[in-house]
Amino acid sequence: MTKKTYKRYLITSALPYANGPIHLGHLAGVYVPSDIYVRYLRQRGRDVVSVCGSDEHGVPITLKARNEGITPQEVVDRYHSMNKKAFDDFGISFDIYSRTSNKVHYETASEIFRTLYEKGVFIEKTSEQYYDEEASAYLADRYITGTCPHCGNPGAYGDQCEQCGTSLSPTDLVNPVSTISGSKPVLKETKHWYLPLDQYEPWLRQWILEEHKEWKPNVYGQCKSWLDQGLQPRAVSRDLEWGIPVPVEGADGKVLYVWFDAPIGYISATKELTPDWEKYWKDKETRMIHFIGKDNIVFHCIVFPTMLKAEGSYNLPDNVPANEFLNLENDKISTSRNWAVWLHEYLEDFPGKQDVLRYVLCANAPENKDNDFTWKDYQNRNNNELVAILGNFVNRALVLTHKYFQGEVPPITMLEDSDRAVLDEIGTIGKAVEQSLEQFRFREAIKTAMDLARLGNKYLADTEPWKLIKTDPERVSTILNISLQITANLTLLLDPFLPFSMEKLRGMLRFTQTSWELIGSPGLLKAGSHLEEAFLLFEKIEDDQIQFQVDKLMKTREEHEAPAAAAPRKEEITFDDFTRMDMRTGTILEAEKVPKTKKLIKMKVDLGFEKRTIISGIAEYYEAETLPGKKVCVLANLAPRMIKGIESRGMILLSENPDGSLHFVEPSAGANNGSEIN
Ligand code: 2FM
Ligand code: ZN
Repeated sequence: MTKKTYKRYLITSALPYANGPIHLGHLAGVYVPSDIYVRYLRQRGRDVVSVCGSDEHGVPITLKARNEGITPQEVVDRYHSMNKKAFDDFGISFDIYSRTSNKVHYETASEIFRTLYEKGVFIEKTSEQYYDEEASAYLADRYITGTCPHCGNPGAYGDQCEQCGTSLSPTDLVNPVSTISGSKPVLKETKHWYLPLDQYEPWLRQWILEEHKEWKPNVYGQCKSWLDQGLQPRAVSRDLEWGIPVPVEGADGKVLYVWFDAPIGYISATKELTPDWEKYWKDKETRMIHFIGKDNIVFHCIVFPTMLKAEGSYNLPDNVPANEFLNLENDKISTSRNWAVWLHEYLEDFPGKQDVLRYVLCANAPENKDNDFTWKDYQNRNNNELVAILGNFVNRALVLTHKYFQGEVPPITMLEDSDRAVLDEIGTIGKAVEQSLEQFRFREAIKTAMDLARLGNKYLADTEPWKLIKTDPERVSTILNISLQITANLTLLLDPFLPFSMEKLRGMLRFTQTSWELIGSPGLLKAGSHLEEAFLLFEKIEDDQIQFQVDKLMKTREEHEAPAAAAPRKEEITFDDFTRMDMRTGTILEAEKVPKTKKLIKMKVDLGFEKRTIISGIAEYYEAETLPGKKVCVLANLAPRMIKGIESRGMILLSENPDGSLHFVEPSAGANNGSEIN
């Protein structure tokens, strides 16, 4: 609940990275709820500004550019226009969709950094970071790969192992390799500026934990857990080429950390929108609300507020209604695995059906827990709710009026108690929707708003005007007047959720008002006024359309899944054949790459009864230095072979994945060197 009344609102929606298209997860988590809220505020006549834009910095953008052989600017140009258009086509009504590579933003972010710098807020600290000597560049965490110390995945990143999910720092990696040049990086000193979050901890505790107990439990809980763990100073600069240069002396080659500049993008966007921007950011009578996904909570509730507090002249957010994540057909949405429904593709495949998706994403929003989007649920909600409840009711009200009263709104002749009860209920529903929206409970809001259409259907079913028309046309006049009043109220109540359809419905009713305050007031449609021809607001979605979408996803899955391991393909052997092999356990004592070869490593292996030299083609998957000490299985009676002039005596057993990668077959702990494998 708002604790005080505000003069105006500033609504921000997380700036999506301009390194990929918008998908359903983005929409359900951030943009659908923020748009509903903004449209609702506008309908209430509030002074509101809704800002968003592309987040155009950060390492993933530079990685994408490198992979595609284009510049980061080309990457962000492509996705900025694509996402701006998709939002627009989908009816997300930002007042501005800006971008963080523009001039105003560079100036604003630099100015805020400089202010904090001059106030002595930052701590300057030198630390050791990986440096690629061949490329002459410090390496961002994502530019370093190596072996995960936890699960042995040879392709773990400097910030995370995607195989076992552990978050890492680059120095945790075994055998780190620079992805820029392929060389081994070295540790080198570098200076950065840190925001001392720890110094702001007492203030943050008071501000969030005491003064904002009304925040959603998922948001409040995450903040509390960060605060309880104790905050650390956070570096707000990086050694990178892409970004906003750190605007102080002695900062060559350094840029602002993307999470320092991105939220400032909200300020720059407001500046770009209006010369009056300061009243939205600095006047205490403005209420700022950040709509974000759960992965952004710490930045919007802890880091950005600390920056603003330290700067001193800006407002802090009053609420941060973050959502959880939306999954897709029971699997995590993933851009890299292409497991997503992309907004621009949806708009092509389902022209004119923006509201259906808005409806489904709101009705099924991941508000308090992660949720799942399925195409089946999409179809069911369209067919059973939008078509069968809402579309059906308004269509009957309009068609019957055309049929019995030539499209003229008939008057109320006499009200019965049941009519009065229905009219009263409109206001009650309106108030309930309002309460839900004020508390950012969008699922509850849309469900309650749909109750008005349910009420309309029940009213028609109870009163049966089609039966009464012959005997009591006056009664039918009242019934249809009330049904049309319900319809007009629906246009007001559902406009934030289904703006395209409600605009069409207003057209059919020739109703031009949109003010929220009118909900429940008598006689919205004047008796005697004329209606336009009725047409269906929603149409049934057929199984083949849904199957097409499901097939598209299944195809993606097949393309991205590792091919299944090959079935047995060697001829049967006898037990005797098997016993002819002398297999033993052993331990690698020494290992070195065979010079001038790509794949070969020469190893000395302790087999208990003797030490053997064995050559194996594993250098693409293992670094020689990591091998000493590793336990292995060895085919010991394989005839010796000369490889690159070296005699290799025996073979180390390796498993080979379908992609050709090799992995040691390792005996478990307790196996001695030289034990037989049977
Ligand atoms: O998580 C993201 O997609 C970020 N680009 C959100 C940034 S929100 C704000 F700070 F700009
Ligand atoms: Zn791992």
